Amino acid sequence: MSRSVRLVPAVAGVLALALAGTACDGGVRGTPGGSGVRDPYYPKAGNGGYDVGHYALTLDYTPATRHLTGTAVITARATKDLSAFDLDLTGLHVDSVRVEGEDARWNRSGQELTVRPHDDLTKGETFRTTVRYSGTPHTVTDPDGAEEGWLPTGDGALALGEPVGSMAWFPGNHHPSDKATYDIAVTVPKGLQAVSNGELTEQSDKGGRTAYHWHTAQPMASYVAAVAIGHYDIKRSTGPHGLPVLTAVDPSQAKASAGVLAKIPDILDWEEYNFGPYPFSSAGAVVAPPHSAGYALETQNRPVFPGAPDTSTLVHELAHQWYGDSVTPESWRDMWLNEGFATYAEWLYAEDHGGPSAQETFDDYYKGDHEAIWAFPPARPSSAAHISDSPVYERGAMVLQKIRQKTGDDTFYDIIQGWAAAHRHGNADTAEFTAYVEKMAPDKDFSRIWKDWLYGDGKPARP
Ligand code: TRP
Ligand code: ZN
Repeated sequence: MSRSVRLVPAVAGVLALALAGTACDGGVRGTPGGSGVRDPYYPKAGNGGYDVGHYALTLDYTPATRHLTGTAVITARATKDLSAFDLDLTGLHVDSVRVEGEDARWNRSGQELTVRPHDDLTKGETFRTTVRYSGTPHTVTDPDGAEEGWLPTGDGALALGEPVGSMAWFPGNHHPSDKATYDIAVTVPKGLQAVSNGELTEQSDKGGRTAYHWHTAQPMASYVAAVAIGHYDIKRSTGPHGLPVLTAVDPSQAKASAGVLAKIPDILDWEEYNFGPYPFSSAGAVVAPPHSAGYALETQNRPVFPGAPDTSTLVHELAHQWYGDSVTPESWRDMWLNEGFATYAEWLYAEDHGGPSAQETFDDYYKGDHEAIWAFPPARPSSAAHISDSPVYERGAMVLQKIRQKTGDDTFYDIIQGWAAAHRHGNADTAEFTAYVEKMAPDKDFSRIWKDWLYGDGKPARP
């Protein structure tokens, strides 16, 4: 029982009897949690009625057969009285579901795994759900044609999540608004590596297989959880303040990536100077086989690149550790808070390293014939198929340059650092951002920037 009022034992006893007498399911009359959190672009992503605190995933994968077995132990808190709740899971076979150690009834419909626990759950109660599952995980194709989820490679696999791919490899509350800590243990045939988020806490061999245990102590959105399985060259070094840096490189990319990966400590140092303290307890990169994915992704601690990245892409994905991974969008509509910032980080890095100034980059986009930039406003993508288009990236970065024009450099850097600090390890939306900017520069009028650049259709009349 999780109510804050303490009852004297005698009263509690009478109450327990009374409850036992009125309900067959432990006394609580819950209702179903619901199949989504009303995301404007992915309405079925995430689920209502609970908040996950921790995922403990135990995975076993054999690349030759593409067979995965998994156990997910999900610790969550009920945010209302629940008779049932949903998890998101696509493909795979569910072998069993238990809640608080008791077998639970469950059924599946599309990506919804609906769990009906033996006893209803009380608002405020922390409960543990254990899902055992198996099968060949799917690759998910987004509305824009990009592929994520489980991506088989020549000698292993790459598991990526943005925006809704993580439900292809573990059941969960797959929406960016519900962040949690993680333990991810992956067992693979001996000789292969399995790299994930956070820090490697244990590695053990048993019967021709190796288990790698990765621990993520800071909150993580499920779309930036990752696993890379295959032959990888693992290297450890240190970044600013002794920060542990671990890189995992596909051997075919060793030569091409050595130079750029050696810049990680300096890039993090530059980013800390501009964005504030690095938000996580380790850093690094995974350079996966070329074509394993069609894009780089800011997976937490250790972004993934399909083949050796260039410096600008590395700067972009590392900047996401502040903007995206630590300060995570409240919904997929707030994607520009990720991509506008990470793109702007590339512009700033160029400015500080002998390239064009951010204003010059802005002017080039404004004057150039990049028609696609004006297709829709950054804060209102036209549909799920367009959340990773250039209005979100480049025009999003242009919004930041407009703010910088208005405030000058000192206040601007206070804003981008203060924003990362204010929502560190949390979530935020666009309205919170504009309010924050206004609070930091109360003597300035941002209304035209919001109206024309952030929310307005078409190309703003003046740069
Ligand atoms: N977030 C990635 C980046 O810019 C790009 C990306 C990969 C993406 N998959 C996506 C964006 C799915 C939106 C949706 O670093
Ligand atoms: Zn990005």
